[in-house]
Amino acid sequence: MRVSIAGSGYVGLVSGAGLSDVGHHVVCMDIDEARVEGLKNGIVPIFEPGLDRMLETNFSQGRLEFTSSIARAVEHAEVLFIAVGTPPDEDGSADLSHVLAVASAVGDHMNKTLLVVVKSTVPVGTCHKVKETISRKLSERGLEIDFSVASNPEFLKEGAAIADFMKPDRIVVGVDNEKAENLLRELYAPFNRNHQKLLCMDVRSSELTKYAANAMLATKISLMNELSNVASHVGADIEHVRNGIGSDPRIGYSFIYPGAGYGGSCFPKDVRALEHTARANGYEPELLKAVEAVNNRQKHRPFEILSRHFDGKIEGLTVAVWGLSFKPNTDDMREAPSLYLVDSILNAGGSVRAQDPQAADEAARIFCDRPGFEIVVDPYEAARDADALVLITEWKLYWAPDFDRLRQEMNQAVIVDGRNIWSPEVVRRRGITYYSIGRP
Ligand SMILES: NC(=O)c1ccc[n+]([C@@H]2O[C@H](COP(=O)([O-])OP(=O)(O)OC[C@H]3O[C@@H](n4cnc5c(N)ncnc54)[C@H](O)[C@@H]3O)[C@@H](O)[C@H]2O)c1
Repeated sequence: MRVSIAGSGYVGLVSGAGLSDVGHHVVCMDIDEARVEGLKNGIVPIFEPGLDRMLETNFSQGRLEFTSSIARAVEHAEVLFIAVGTPPDEDGSADLSHVLAVASAVGDHMNKTLLVVVKSTVPVGTCHKVKETISRKLSERGLEIDFSVASNPEFLKEGAAIADFMKPDRIVVGVDNEKAENLLRELYAPFNRNHQKLLCMDVRSSELTKYAANAMLATKISLMNELSNVASHVGADIEHVRNGIGSDPRIGYSFIYPGAGYGGSCFPKDVRALEHTARANGYEPELLKAVEAVNNRQKHRPFEILSRHFDGKIEGLTVAVWGLSFKPNTDDMREAPSLYLVDSILNAGGSVRAQDPQAADEAARIFCDRPGFEIVVDPYEAARDADALVLITEWKLYWAPDFDRLRQEMNQAVIVDGRNIWSPEVVRRRGITYYSIGRP
């Protein structure tokens, strides 16, 4: 099938790679011309394991094209995906300007029937707005063209995005007519070989499903973080508690890790946007507010622990920070807990020497004008002469460090494990002062 995707970020590029890999002819479009030129020359603007190779293969075999021309994208497509960003507006609602800009441009260029599919995470009612925008543009041009707008939220996880796209748990589509449903069934047939994964529903339910999924996951994290703080107050060990509840199949082990809070480009903004949608429709979402509040507090936990250890005297200290991306296997630092930690240390007069396997460039860009922030290549170099080490992102590289070497290299052997990846006994046996989240 002929597919176009407006927006060549994490979602657009992974979708483009995945759809072309099964044989569809895909045009990936973006308004960022430098990004498009880079892609044509094999430069992938984001880090996502396996993505560069997959883009390269499908590009060289002629199934994948990159363009900054929306006219080309519209002309090519039977199905056109909108996969542009929906960042938070000041009031927490989703900023739909990019989505509606694409809709408007589609209406300016459409000359034949088209299925427009909204893949961006958008509040309930957005597909309707997209449809209205395109219709308005068509009528301004004096045209009457049969087109549909469907919802198809994306559930991929950064860091495992290719596997998630190629072998999805489910493919949610929201449609208002059979023709659109059939087109999407045909498009996704190669991903359904094992069993039917396509869940077809009305458009509004599909739009809400994406927010519901992220709200549920964010709630699990915040509840676990809340419990970790209770554990600290009552002298219990949250890791024993985690094992004790995870074994119940109704609860399960996934997504119940205590830590430094959730970040990233999705959970924070999506919880806020869902709160906003609920409120705008006359419902006060008490639980969602609490999920967000607990998370905001939790992001400050590693610094609080650090500050308590040094009696609030951070000035003049050097803190090594391991991990900056919001989670391992991505270079994405949007709303990462590391941002709060680094900012707090610098504001308190300390210096930061940080290491991250992929987010170094992004961190350098964010903190370039902050004196006291330095980024280094090697984790032990970050720890050399440091007064404390805080682990904030659990990259595999950090799971089994040489603690003896750390104790020798550090000025003061103090470790704050913001993800509970190390054993307190093992670290303390090496003569290191060790703190973690919700464990004695
Ligand atoms: N990143 C994720 O893990 C993830 C997962 C599921 C859903 N989502 C959702 O998917 C959407 C896209 O997220 P992302 O992380 O890929 O965003 P991103 O910021 O990585 O990419 C968005 C791209 O859209 C481009 N763009 C903006 N306006 C445009 C326009 N008018 N025409 C063409 N291109 C335009 C930007 O230049 C950018 O390259 C968001 O709604 C997000 O919530 C993201």
